[in-house]
Order: sequence, then structure tokens, then C-alpha cells
Amino acid sequence: MSRLLVCPPDYFAIEYEINPWMRRANTVDHERATAQWHRLMEVLERDMGIVLERMRPVPGLPDLVFTANAGVVVGRQAVVSRFRYPERQREEAHFEQWFRDAGYEVITFDQEFFFEGAGDLLGFPEYWFGGYRQRSDVRSFSLLSELFGREILPLELVDGRFYHLDTCLCPLSGGELLYYPPAFDSYGQNAIMERVDKDRRLAVPEADALKFACNAVCAGTHVALPGGCPATSQWLQERGYQVHPVPLDEFMKSGGSAKCLTLALD
Ligand code: ARG
Repeated sequence: MSRLLVCPPDYFAIEYEINPWMRRANTVDHERATAQWHRLMEVLERDMGIVLERMRPVPGLPDLVFTANAGVVVGRQAVVSRFRYPERQREEAHFEQWFRDAGYEVITFDQEFFFEGAGDLLGFPEYWFGGYRQRSDVRSFSLLSELFGREILPLELVDGRFYHLDTCLCPLSGGELLYYPPAFDSYGQNAIMERVDKDRRLAVPEADALKFACNAVCAGTHVALPGGCPATSQWLQERGYQVHPVPLDEFMKSGGSAKCLTLALD
């Protein structure tokens, strides 16, 4: 059974601009955002059988909804994020407190390397991928690799629109991978192609990638992904996945979607 950490969008808004999707003038329709978030939770809980842990939203922290950036959880250990932008650094103490209250052994790096949690660290049981340059510092991955005894393949993110790894790469439970090749340099693209067989990876077409098709939540044979990603949905269905499209365009205004709104707890 999967468990995910989520945070209700009570204070979700666009109050600053730290990625190319965010425009303060592009006001969030609060009622719509709330309805979209609740619909996603319903799909995760009811259709996908996921257990949700809800953390308390905090006024003045509009991006706290994106719990993927809280940190990364492995077993009973949680590494708390160090955000690149001061606007989000104010979230760190709240995520850290949640991990402590939930009984995790909290790990913080002494070095001030930026690391934005599961937004930039994703993978398969045997090895992980680490996305760097836009937000996380590549040096954080050697510390994480040593800490957890896992191989981490660093992937440089070269397109500002795909600033977190989870906006352009999604490992699936059956060993398949969704990714958007132009978000990576040729070294990264080759590393992905070497690791994942051709018939098990989908080079997501641009139209779907721009709808954040790669920002999907996979649990068992179920995948929840943003609405409007027909090519990706079809590919997943052909491989036996049950696809649950959820409209999340209010969160796209902040540069986030389904996966960003969750943090895997086991
Ligand atoms: N507005 C947020 C930011 O720019 C969105 C974060 C999305 N999270 C993610 N894991 N991709 O930091």
C-alpha cells in the first residue's frame, strides 16, 4: 500500500515568480483549484487505493501544496529540502516539523547544497535519477548516494520550463519510464537510453510534455496524470496501466501538477 503526503491548497496562490510558468498577473481561481485538488485526492484514495497523510496548510506559504519538494523519504529516514529560492526556504521548517511529528529520523545536510526533495530525485528500486542545475545542486546527489547506498545518475536539466526532474521524467512501477528528451542534455539522454530499454520508455511528445504528462503519480497498475495528455495516456494503456486523467490547470499556473502535489512516504 502506498502512502503519500499532501497539503490542502487553502493558501495556494501566485505571489512570486520563480519559474517560467508563474505570472503574478495570472490569478489562481481559488474555488477551482480547491475542486481540482479534491478531485485528485479522490482519485488517489478511492481509485488507486493510496493512503493520504494531510499536513496543515500555512498562510503566506502558497507553494506548500507542492509536498514533492518537502524532502525525500527512505524507510524511516527523511532528508529535508534546502530550497534555492528564499520564497520557498520559509517552507523548510514546516516540512521538517511534519517529519519529526510523524516520527521520522530527520536528516539535514551541513553543507548548504540546494536540494529540492523528491521533485529532483526519482527512480527505480535499483537506482535513482537526480535532476540538477535549475534547483538542486549536483553535489547533493553524492551525499544522498552515500547516505542511502544507492546509485544516483545525475541528469542536467537544460530547459527552464522543466526545472524539476519530476516535470520531465517519471519512473513507473513496472520498470517503464516516461520522459521528455529535450529537457536533458545529450549526455543525460544517452544515460537514460542506456538504462531503460527502448520498448519500456516513452519519449513524451512536446504537446503532452507541456501539459506536464511526466508529472504523473504511479501506484501499482494505476497512473494519475494531468488531463489533456492523449499520447501518453494511450501508451500507458497499451502497457496495461489504468489511467486516471485529472484536470489540474490551476496548479500549472505555478508550474506544478499531480506528482508535485504529493510526496511518497514509502
Ligand atoms: N511554484 C513551485 C516552484 O516553482 C512549483 C513546484 C512544483 N514542484 C515540483 N516538484 N515540480 O517551486
